[in-house]
Amino acid sequence: MKSVAVVLAVLLASQCLAVRPPPRSQRPLTWPGGLSLSQDFKPSKVDLDLCKFCIDFSQQAIQQLLNIILQVGVVGTCGELCQALADKTGSQALGVACNLLCDIEGVQEFIKLIEKADLDPIYYCELLKQCTIKDDGDAKITTLSVNPKSGPQGTFIIDVEYVSKNGTGTGEMVIDIDTVDGIPLGQGFVLEAQEAGTYGQKISLRAEPNPDCDPTQGPCESFQPGNYGVRIALCNGECGSKHPHSQIYDQGMTNFTITG
Ligand SMILES: *[C@@H]1O[C@H](CO)[C@@H](O)[C@H](O)[C@H]1NC(C)=O
Ligand SMILES: *[C@@H]1O[C@H](CO)[C@@H](O)[C@H](O)[C@H]1NC(C)=O
Repeated sequence: MKSVAVVLAVLLASQCLAVRPPPRSQRPLTWPGGLSLSQDFKPSKVDLDLCKFCIDFSQQAIQQLLNIILQVGVVGTCGELCQALADKTGSQALGVACNLLCDIEGVQEFIKLIEKADLDPIYYCELLKQCTIKDDGDAKITTLSVNPKSGPQGTFIIDVEYVSKNGTGTGEMVIDIDTVDGIPLGQGFVLEAQEAGTYGQKISLRAEPNPDCDPTQGPCESFQPGNYGVRIALCNGECGSKHPHSQIYDQGMTNFTITG
């Protein structure tokens, strides 16, 4: 009975968490400036996934949790800490997720690991033993293309394929777009540890001005005509992280042209 309730709570929290795009903690890669990337990952796992759940949670909460710990000092219980998080963020779902993860090792260990993880969500979930660690993995990009290669503003599909001979650790794929007007656009996607094999991802890029872009939150990308570079990195851990279990497996570059 208890396990059913926990599973339901995890599912609920996952759904609520999934609504907001996760803010990236160290390297703010996703601008509201109009980059819309969505992922079509094969093969996909549909089962309940605590690693993904943990990373989603910590991308949204780790900074706030650290602030709470620094401000409040001694926190007695998971309940207190997670209620403070729910109050601060206005999200009961984050509070529920926090309690689930905090209860695994207890509040002292939970806090110690937050401090140790230093705002790196993947490393944090590895420390919390929710994500697989594998340091002898590899990945090599075998295909990288954009379709269409040239066309008017609209949706462009970035096609990435890679081969791993020995499997991969929990990591991410980061896509950066070099825009004509110099506004930096990019996004990271968490990649869970995988067995050896060939993997493909299709990323849709909506290369047209985003009507919901709020210019007070940062520059809005206009996708002027011209050539756009696309840079991809596949990494163990967070790309560019100096923490343990982090490494760049491979990088690649391609481009596409927006016609006038
Ligand atoms: C491949 O991974 C296995 C564990 O999954 C490890 O024992 C082995 O040393 C790795 N091989 C290489 C060449 O890194
Ligand atoms: C775009 O990519 C093609 C290969 O697909 C390359 O030949 C060309 O030099 C690149 N253009 C730019 C501006 O980087």
